[in-house]
Amino acid sequence: MPGEEEEGEAVCCSDIGVSQGKAPWHPLCTPGTAMVWKKGSRRDMRGVSPGLSLPPQCTLTGRWTNDLGSNMTIMAVNEKGEFLGSYHTAVTASGNEIKVSPLQGSQHRTNKDSQATFGFTVNWSFSDSVTVFTGQCFVDEDGKEVLRTMWLLRSNVDSIKDDWKATMVGTNVFTRLRTKKE
Ligand code: BTN
Repeated sequence: MPGEEEEGEAVCCSDIGVSQGKAPWHPLCTPGTAMVWKKGSRRDMRGVSPGLSLPPQCTLTGRWTNDLGSNMTIMAVNEKGEFLGSYHTAVTASGNEIKVSPLQGSQHRTNKDSQATFGFTVNWSFSDSVTVFTGQCFVDEDGKEVLRTMWLLRSNVDSIKDDWKATMVGTNVFTRLRTKKE
């Protein structure tokens, strides 16, 4: 089918090391290995070197900032696709003093194109609310990683009568937070 990967060009992992390419990590590969596309496959044809080409790679691990000015840090993603991190929101609906809050999430393990879908929950440490985010990690046309997400923010209400107004919905776009040196 047009636009779909052929079965035959599925990835395998090779011990080429992190230094050779920008895209060493993939959920299907063990740490320190990279993807190799079958020679002659469509993936290989658009690649950077014959026989070995690295597809656009989006990795969740690291520091991110979003369009509201919130920052988050995602720690290592384990072999099951699970990860932990912290979230420093720039805004709050609670009126409380903002504090850094824990997040936990999971990334889909079988995204062949390394632009993985994921979800995470932030359990706000300074309010009674919880936010769930879901999204996908993309590499844009400039080669920059971007997380396109949607979220649901559930507030605690006193009565079931108020349930109708307890959930907000929105979108956030995250880009990598660069250190000054980068
Ligand atoms: C609260 O107000 O009770 C907790 C903070 C909620 C912050 C929300 S979550 C969705 C949106 N994206 C952000 O980065 N911050 C807001």
